[in-house]
Amino acid sequence: MSKYWSEVVHKLTPYTPGEQPKGNVLLKLNTNENPYGPSQKVLDSISIANNNKLRLYPDPESDLLKSTIANFYNISSNSIFLGNGSDEILAFIFQGFFKNKLPIIFPDITYSFYPAYCSLYDISYTRIPLDKKFNIDLEDYLIPNGGIIFPNPNAPTGIPKTLVDIENLIKINQDSVVVIDEAYVDFGTESVIKLVNKYKNLLVTQSFSKSRSLAGIRLGCAFGNKNLIEGLNRIKNSFNSYPIDRLAQTAGIEAIKDENHFNETRDKIIKARAFLEKELLLMDFETLPSGANFIFTKHKLKDGAIIFNKLRESGVIVRHFERPARIFQYLRITIGTQEEMKKFISILKRII
Ligand SMILES: Cc1ncc(COP(=O)(O)O)c(C=O)c1O
Repeated sequence: MSKYWSEVVHKLTPYTPGEQPKGNVLLKLNTNENPYGPSQKVLDSISIANNNKLRLYPDPESDLLKSTIANFYNISSNSIFLGNGSDEILAFIFQGFFKNKLPIIFPDITYSFYPAYCSLYDISYTRIPLDKKFNIDLEDYLIPNGGIIFPNPNAPTGIPKTLVDIENLIKINQDSVVVIDEAYVDFGTESVIKLVNKYKNLLVTQSFSKSRSLAGIRLGCAFGNKNLIEGLNRIKNSFNSYPIDRLAQTAGIEAIKDENHFNETRDKIIKARAFLEKELLLMDFETLPSGANFIFTKHKLKDGAIIFNKLRESGVIVRHFERPARIFQYLRITIGTQEEMKKFISILKRII
C-alpha cells in the first residue's frame, strides 16, 4: 500500500505466473513450455539479426512477420494483429472490446489472467460453471453478455471444444465479441481461424510460446475481422508502437517457415502425452481428456497437495491450484520429452 498509488492500483488483484525457479530442478513441468528448443533456423536468424541494426527501432507493423503468418494460414495480413505475447493482446482485447454495460462471461475454471484484466480495466464479469465432467457447456453461454472468452482447449483442464459448437455460439451471439484463446490449439485441437472471414464478432488469439517453443521471445498473434484488428491497432499505437522487437520479428518468421521442426516436435509431444496418460491410468490417476501440451489429473485416493509437495522435494515442479475447491485434488503436468515423462513416472511411482 502506498499513498502514491492510484485507486486502480489499490484495487488490483494481479495474476501470479507459474514459478520460474532460479536454481536447478530435475524436471520443470509447471508452465507448459516446450521441452524442445526452437528450430536451428530460428536460432541462426537471431544470431544474424544480432547486429548493429539493433540501434534502430524495429518495423512498428512487423509487416514481414505478418505476411509470413498470413501466407501460412491463408488469410489476409489485415486480419492479423501481433503482440508481446498473447497476454498483451488479451489485455488490449479486454480494454478495447469488453468494457460494456453487460458483464463479460467466461468459465469458472479457466485462465486466471482473465479476472486480472477485469480488475485492471474495471470490467464486470460472470463466471459460468463447467459441467460435471469439467466441460464448457456452450448452451450456458447463450445469455445477454458484454463479451465471451474462453481458451480452446480450456486451461487448466486441457479439454477442447469442437469447431461446430463454437461456430454455433458465434452465430447466435452477434451482439458482442467472442474471443477464442488458442494458446494450446496446435496440440490436437481444431482451430477456428478459418471462421474469421465469416464472422465480424470473432477474435482468435494464438501464442508462439508453446507449440513454437518461443516463450522467452514473447510473441503472440490475433486473427479477426479487419475492424476488430483496427481497434487493436488503435490501442497498440496509443500504448507502445514497437511491441515486437527486431529479434522477435526474425525469430517469428523462421518459426513459421520451419514447418518440419514444428510438426516433428508437436507430434513427439502428442505421443509423450499419450504415454503419460496411459502410465497414469495404471497408477490409479483420473486424467481429463487433453488437446493441449499438458494434462490435468488426480489420484483416486491420494491427496493432490501432498503429491505436489513430494514431487517438489524430489526436484519435480508441476502446477497445483489451491482454488477453486473443485480442482484442489488435481495437478497440471506439462508434457515434456518421452525421456522426461519416463523419469517423471518413475519418481511418481516411488511417491505413490
Ligand atoms: C490460456 C492461456 N492463454 C494465454 C497465455 C499467454 O501466453 P503468452 O503470453 O506466452 O503468448 C497462456 C500462458 O500460459 C495461457 O495459458
